[in-house]
Amino acid sequence: MLAPGDVIRLEGDAVVMLDQTRLPGERVDRRCATTAELCTAIRELAIRGAPAIGIAAAMGMAQAARRSAAPTTQGLRDELAAARDELAASRPTAINLGWALARCDDAIERAAAAAGPAAPGAVRAALEQLALRIHEDEVARCRAMGRHGADLLPAGARVLTHCNAGGLATGGYGSALGVVRAAFDDDPRIHVWVDETRPLLQGARLTAWELGEDGISHTLIADVAAGQLFARGLVDAVVFGADRIARNGDAANKIGSYTLSVLAAAHGVPCYVVAPSSTIDHAIASGDEIPIEERAGDEVARFGGRATAPPGTAVANPAFDVTPAANITAIVTEAGVHRAPFAQSLPAAAS
Ligand code: MRU
Repeated sequence: MLAPGDVIRLEGDAVVMLDQTRLPGERVDRRCATTAELCTAIRELAIRGAPAIGIAAAMGMAQAARRSAAPTTQGLRDELAAARDELAASRPTAINLGWALARCDDAIERAAAAAGPAAPGAVRAALEQLALRIHEDEVARCRAMGRHGADLLPAGARVLTHCNAGGLATGGYGSALGVVRAAFDDDPRIHVWVDETRPLLQGARLTAWELGEDGISHTLIADVAAGQLFARGLVDAVVFGADRIARNGDAANKIGSYTLSVLAAAHGVPCYVVAPSSTIDHAIASGDEIPIEERAGDEVARFGGRATAPPGTAVANPAFDVTPAANITAIVTEAGVHRAPFAQSLPAAAS
């Protein structure tokens, strides 16, 4: 299993990550020495998955502080405000990004107030500690979610998952894959159906890779094969992660998750969303308010470096969809298993 420091870490004044765009073929690190480089890595999905994006953002703020030579607290704060805006604009859907940056704002405020105008070092230290703590906390949340979620699965469950909500997406262990890992520890007969996850194949490239590394039985399927598996009674549970969960339980996740939830409901199969409380956006009432990232059309109209559609074909490429709370059997967070009505059962956002 990947160690948290393998996924992402602060090294010198750079943020270093396992480059997820190169998996499964090559296991290579990508070093981001500036905020601009880190934002490019986030946009290109070298680091991806809601909790991992939040960790990257916090490390990006710590890195910006380390690199800055500002002699005054205010000078450093001005530089950090620019880094913050750049990071905030890197990807729109995962709330963990804004959540982590808001925690950085608080840490800057508190350290500046305590240390005074001539002590930028205190702000640097506070941001570094915070980034490390957010990383540790996310992995701890995954382990707790894994335990709660594993108890929901029957022995030898056949679980269908989408995208990658593993250690790569969370800084270690995984949310949806954390549930799979904990269930595997209880009973190694668990089997995972891995949706390839068009168009960027996070399921095929990353989830299949993680499960293979851990020796967990799995089968890769084309996304469009899922219906046939349900129809043949081969799926016991759908388990996926989330990028943002509204107060009412509507949950945004990788495009195609909604489709699976509809199939699950039609076949009487439970659909579990597994996400830490840092993914809950208590400021929004429903999924209608979740911004959905629209990505480049070439991701759909090209494959393996070749055009797969006539030049000029109009392409829609929403990267996420929203699974309505009505299709979700339970949401698993580190605090436990939450059922409808989610407005009452979801925990407060992580602090
Ligand atoms: O576009 P991606 O690869 O960042 O999308 C990631 C997902 O949709 C994950 O399922 C989600 O962030 C949860 S990760 C624990």
